[in-house]
Amino acid sequence: MTARVTYRIDGDIAILGLTQPPVNSLGQALRAELQQAYRQALSDDQVAALVLVSEARIFCGGADIQEFGSDQAFASPDLPSLLNELEASPKPVVAAIHGMALGGGLELALACDYRIADVKARLGLPEVNLGLIPGAGGTQRLPRLANVSLALEMITSGQPIAAERAHASGLLGRLSQGDLLTDALEFTREILEQGAQVRSCADIEVNADDFPASGFDDFRASIARKTRGFFAPERCIQAIEAACRLPLAEGLEREQALFKECMNTPQARAQQHLFFAEREATKVPGVDSATPARSVRSVAVIGAGTMGGGIAMNFANAGIPVKLLELKQEALDHGLATIRKNYEISAKKGRMTETQVEQRMALLEGTLSYEDLGDADLVIEAVFESMEVKKAVFSRLDEVCKPGAILASNTSTLDLNQIASFTKRPQDVIGLHFFSPANVMRLLEIVRGDQTADDVIVTALQVAKAIRKVPVVVGVCFGFVGNRMLEPYGREAHRLILEGATPAQVDKVLTGFGLAMGPLSMFDLAGNDVGYLVRESRREAIAHDPSYNRLGDELYRLGRYGQKTGRGFYLYQGREQNEDPELIQLAEELARDLGIERREISDQEILERCVFMLINEAADILSEGIASRSGDCDLVWVNGYGFPAWRGGPMQYADELGLVNVLEGIEKYRKDLGDHGEMWFRPSNLLKELASAGKTFRNFSSQNS
Ligand code: NAI
Repeated sequence: MTARVTYRIDGDIAILGLTQPPVNSLGQALRAELQQAYRQALSDDQVAALVLVSEARIFCGGADIQEFGSDQAFASPDLPSLLNELEASPKPVVAAIHGMALGGGLELALACDYRIADVKARLGLPEVNLGLIPGAGGTQRLPRLANVSLALEMITSGQPIAAERAHASGLLGRLSQGDLLTDALEFTREILEQGAQVRSCADIEVNADDFPASGFDDFRASIARKTRGFFAPERCIQAIEAACRLPLAEGLEREQALFKECMNTPQARAQQHLFFAEREATKVPGVDSATPARSVRSVAVIGAGTMGGGIAMNFANAGIPVKLLELKQEALDHGLATIRKNYEISAKKGRMTETQVEQRMALLEGTLSYEDLGDADLVIEAVFESMEVKKAVFSRLDEVCKPGAILASNTSTLDLNQIASFTKRPQDVIGLHFFSPANVMRLLEIVRGDQTADDVIVTALQVAKAIRKVPVVVGVCFGFVGNRMLEPYGREAHRLILEGATPAQVDKVLTGFGLAMGPLSMFDLAGNDVGYLVRESRREAIAHDPSYNRLGDELYRLGRYGQKTGRGFYLYQGREQNEDPELIQLAEELARDLGIERREISDQEILERCVFMLINEAADILSEGIASRSGDCDLVWVNGYGFPAWRGGPMQYADELGLVNVLEGIEKYRKDLGDHGEMWFRPSNLLKELASAGKTFRNFSSQNS
């Protein structure tokens, strides 16, 4: 009857079909048409009950994200009012769910009287991932229709649950194993025959049987670590508490108030920024996303060390066969044994079954011979970080790989264009820069060389999706995006210790700000030898500053590599970390030699120097086109370096703070820090331009989207 909702009659049942591709997002037009169809069914005397189905790919993906932040989101009928109207229906309404019912989509189903779902369906309320709480009754109806524990878990985690679990909790009246609509009609007829009529959540008490009095506080404590800094999870809990205490109508009002509180927070802006940034990251300037991708059915990884092993696991986890090449049998055996050990640890923790361990191991095949790589669609090199070694590998790959195979390097610092030049097919060469541990970390920097073909980039993005990574396409420069931003951040962290801060103070300030780990603990974990070798490869770029990371160099000279040697910026006993008075002595001596005056340093100075330098470098990266959007830099630091997601990444944080304030801060330290300030606190031109125009990094980035 309308463009978005179909209306059919089957006997005495009206079937309302949501047909808005791709996912029936509940924009104003769909809401209005659903309301119209619903009212038609009510006024039709022939109709005894209604079935709500989807004729799209899934039942419903929830709110229309295009409406986010605009008045359209509240345009009549707004979702809460529409759902209240549905709930008040004098005729029973049955939701028939297939695929997914997410967010507003699940809330729609909760406002119906009964629910049936395909056995493979999944149901969830992911609003918390956008810094919000469910705002159309989810927090009030879910604890009534299922129970408090499940509501707390689903609403604060945002993770969907399987239909079977929803059925067991009472949320679904029935599971469908066959044709969903046939089963839904049968279910509805049974309901009518049994005289079971409408059910309003207003008449249902919250099911807190399984929930002790101290339950909410225990639950708060159990998620405190994971949700530190986020605003919405606590509001989710408060809304569910209200459901236990208040009648439905008042509970819904409380939910609305809490929803609005969340909407206007920096956290919600930050989380939504990251949500959109992830989607935009797959659009690459100058590359038509409709370009057909190459097919990747088999993969080879060169080097079965720390990174190669983890990279291979990603593909085995996705069911893609991987050949793993080493030069020596011993190294190969060691690499495969490490992979098996990692899988077995996961199995012990109950994250996979023994059968799955064997299935994944069966997808991995070791080899010592390049001749075996002739049929690989994608080869990823993860050998030592040396141009000579990379040259040997890529020349050999050029000889043995089939035409059209994608040749990728996991290099973290070397020039990808030079690597491509070792082959006669630079168009097929790309960087796939994974982060350690490669089977865990979600970030994948896709490094686009000068000659990388468009379809190779499109394929790399699809590969990232298949192995569930967050891809960010970056250009070639030293350190690409992530490690290039790390450089000035780490430089300040080192320097602050020479000037008088302790490693523990610096780390505490940055973890207090929300980083997963302080910089000095991170260097100790990664190895101060690694940092030293990176510096060695670019001494001329830092030669003008005799104090540059001197402390790091000294630690290297003393063999204080960090956790692996038991000493670095800290002392270690196993994983236990302690401060080391000798390190302070060392810093004092170095400061004396370099003529650096030691003083007490405020926490604010530590934070600003480290974070403003991070932002300033990202601004340069953006203006050079190494990253296309500020959101790309943010994705890199949130997913690869533990920057707090609730701050949205360094660039979003800067936008939130105001670029004028960042600029003023940098200029202040330029004056205050003498030679060091003069050398390093040079505001990026882009930062200056945007600040003086009153703009944000996001404004600048939108030109590239
Ligand atoms: P690794 O030393 O653990 O492993 C390298 C492996 O390559 C060794 O098993 C070695 O036997 C093998 N190998 C060396 N030359 C070979 C050749 N010609 N043919 C076949 N195999 C060869 O090193 P890691 O840490 O795995 O690093 C590998 C690459 O990944 C480097 O380019 C590094 O910069 C990059 N990377 C490292 C990260 C890390 O955190 N370790 C993070 C991101 C990138």
